[in-house]
Amino acid sequence: MACGSGSFPRVRLRRIRQQAWSRDLVAETSLYLDDLILPLFVGRDEGEIKEDEKTPLDLPCVTLGQLERFVCEQVVPSGVRAIMLFPVVPAVLKDQAGSYALKSDGLVPQALRCLKACAPDLGCIVDVALDPYTSHGHDGLVREGMVLNDETVEVLAQMACLYAENGADCVAPSDMMDGRVGVIRCALEGRGHHNTMIMAYAAKYASAFYGPFRDVMGVQHQAKGFHKKTYQMDVRNQKEALRETRLDVQEGADFVVVKPGGLSLDVLATLNKEVAIPLVAYQVSGEFAMLRAASKMGWITYEQALLESMVVMKRAGASAILTYGALDVARLLKEASAS
Ligand code: PBG
Repeated sequence: MACGSGSFPRVRLRRIRQQAWSRDLVAETSLYLDDLILPLFVGRDEGEIKEDEKTPLDLPCVTLGQLERFVCEQVVPSGVRAIMLFPVVPAVLKDQAGSYALKSDGLVPQALRCLKACAPDLGCIVDVALDPYTSHGHDGLVREGMVLNDETVEVLAQMACLYAENGADCVAPSDMMDGRVGVIRCALEGRGHHNTMIMAYAAKYASAFYGPFRDVMGVQHQAKGFHKKTYQMDVRNQKEALRETRLDVQEGADFVVVKPGGLSLDVLATLNKEVAIPLVAYQVSGEFAMLRAASKMGWITYEQALLESMVVMKRAGASAILTYGALDVARLLKEASAS
């Protein structure tokens, strides 16, 4: 073939793709074990999480009594270095105000004490919001159909302090109330918890992809009129994500979470360019469910699709990733490095 004035065939982008070593040599994005955070649901021991009640998805879920064993036998050996705790509260303990959230011997304080005793080097992040505790399933206090902001923030700050006292390394407000990061930071400083980090869900969209999570929590999310659009962000907006993130940075956030992560790659890329703060992408339950369901149908290969879904979030700018598949990713990374 004649070499014309155009670049082909001098330039053939496929040359470099022919061998594994040259593909790896030029790879722009890497995924490490250190990037992973495992979200973990913890329930009480009185049989709330029976085998037949588990979602078909099999989201990582244990009771308090199973926690130590799960962490010591599965999480720590996997190489995953941090978990994010979510309590699964039985309906009988839920009320309008979510008052169980502030019980000093509640689920989360007990889980934290257990974790700090059995796995002191494992990073313990705790989600801070009222939805696991409220009978209506909203992330805040509700009066006359309105989710109250400032009153909710006061409760969140108390929750954050309770968790810090019980050993949380990091609190993760996921409620999307205005001003909560600043108030939580002040409360933590006031109680001497200077080193307790805040991982703020800054760009959290009112998404249809939280369904399996809400099922585990026992939130009646399919009820008519149930939505969180008065506090979570509108999926049509990106500038709003930038404003939310800048505010959280000013208020003292140490990291910010973008979710649903895989559906917000544009947001990750923009935030990565515009704001100097580590970004955590959350692959939420509905995103994970799609991978699982499609692979169950034989339409995609779970392992490959899972890894790809991780890499693209890193390529977009994420420093770390929350995924229910963290233990699987860890295994795949280990297998890849051994081969
Ligand atoms: C609630 C919370 C939600 C998730 C994390 N924290 C659900 C919601 O906002 O209703 C969703 C995570 C997931 O779907 O995996 N504070």
